[in-house]
Amino acid sequence: MAKKEPIQIAVVGSGYVGLVAALCFAEMGHSVICVDNDERKVAALQGGDTLIHENHLPELMERYRNTKVRFTTDLAEATRESSAIFVAVGTPQSESGDADLSYVEAVAGEIARSINGYKVIIEKSTVPVYTNEWIRRVIERNGVKQDAFDVVSNPEFLREGTAVEDFLHPDRIVVGADSTRAFELLSSIYLPLTEGTYYSAAHAIPGCCSETKLPPLLLTSTKSAEIIKHASNAFLALKISFINAVSNLCEAADANVEQVASGIGLDSRIGPKFLKPGIGYGGSCFPKDVASFRSVAAQMGVDFTLLHEVEKININQKRRFLSKVRSALWTLRGKRLAVLGLAFKGDTDDIRESPAIDLVEMLLTEGCIIAAYDPAAMERSALELPASANLRYADSVEDAARDADALLILTDWTEFGKLDLIQLNGIMRYPIIVDGRNMYDTQEMLDSGFTYLSIGRPTVTPLREALKPTLSALGTVL
Ligand code: UDX
Repeated sequence: MAKKEPIQIAVVGSGYVGLVAALCFAEMGHSVICVDNDERKVAALQGGDTLIHENHLPELMERYRNTKVRFTTDLAEATRESSAIFVAVGTPQSESGDADLSYVEAVAGEIARSINGYKVIIEKSTVPVYTNEWIRRVIERNGVKQDAFDVVSNPEFLREGTAVEDFLHPDRIVVGADSTRAFELLSSIYLPLTEGTYYSAAHAIPGCCSETKLPPLLLTSTKSAEIIKHASNAFLALKISFINAVSNLCEAADANVEQVASGIGLDSRIGPKFLKPGIGYGGSCFPKDVASFRSVAAQMGVDFTLLHEVEKININQKRRFLSKVRSALWTLRGKRLAVLGLAFKGDTDDIRESPAIDLVEMLLTEGCIIAAYDPAAMERSALELPASANLRYADSVEDAARDADALLILTDWTEFGKLDLIQLNGIMRYPIIVDGRNMYDTQEMLDSGFTYLSIGRPTVTPLREALKPTLSALGTVL
């Protein structure tokens, strides 16, 4: 039976998943020790810095730092003091596409050496199937008896930008557990969400769940839970690559991918989400997880070449965008481009695997002169792509756009969908916008005097529109 009582939790790793989980568990009423081996990071967290740009995180940090959450580098002490230990350390991609699990292994070994009573060790990082089994073996090899611990898989599905809301208002909570005792502890941890008491609390962060719409808790085997996480991300990536391939077809047929996406998304078996075409998916999860899932399948002798196609379409999408810029400007060397967006998506300062960064690199190689602006990601970008004779980081959209031969939209920040088009038209050298995120209605762009190229939709250009009656009178097909 799940119990309504605060649980002492350790969260190992203070990255995106670890930090959000630690503060959200505190928000749900538990006591949390958040452990990281990076002393500088821990010192910053102890000082109240959240280190990542994420809605609600500063507010939770303010509420729980030094009360329900403390930060430390001491994993041994955190293990001894806690009954549930969530492992949320990095699983970077190795050369072969596999997830590098050496951090997970090191943490498992250290936990084993400090176990002082029954503990549940929970995988929260995205890991390949069988990791659970390996963690168990590492702990046993370090002399811990089988009945002194359980290993559980509890994958996290949060998105950057909406991480806190996603954690507290999940579509589902998946618990992969092979023992009743461990499952009950996990059920107790999530009880404030699954019973809805959290949603009636005065301090509750609003979201899609409520006392009448509770998140389901799904009990599975540990292996199924591991596969659920990889399969979810791979499926979402597949959906994006699918609509990107359809957008290419729309371009070839002079159709409109937005209309097509609406038409297919209204089928309840397909659904409207993750059907936004663009310049390809990026971020710390999709590219890594698709590669890792593909590699796991290959190692197990399963033919899953579909995932290879998903990756191929994603890479190709950036090349197609580059060709689109070239088709708007003819030659690229020496062209001045305003680039709006560097983060891999809006509402985050994360540039990991960002298609925008890849495109800036490709455009620089072509000899373009770039003024880039992003509301949050410029500091991180400058570390990867330092300013140079051909790359400048601008103070604002206007600063980037002044005298530009064309403006490119590469990240879907809300503010990039509300540009003052008339003012922009006045300050750019040529009124050309190449939009990799389909943030505007084509007619609105035309009305503002822009040549507008987007993804999977017909290109509009004022000159061509003005000529249309004359040309059609002459029998010309546009
Ligand atoms: C993703 C998963 O959504 C989340 O469940 C998992 O826990 C971590 O990985 P995240 O990487 O934060 O989350 O971003 P997400 O919003 O899923 O977007 C990923 C990428 O796909 C971005 O580059 C985004 O721009 C792109 N995308 C998303 C599209 O191109 N089209 C879409 O329709 C949706």
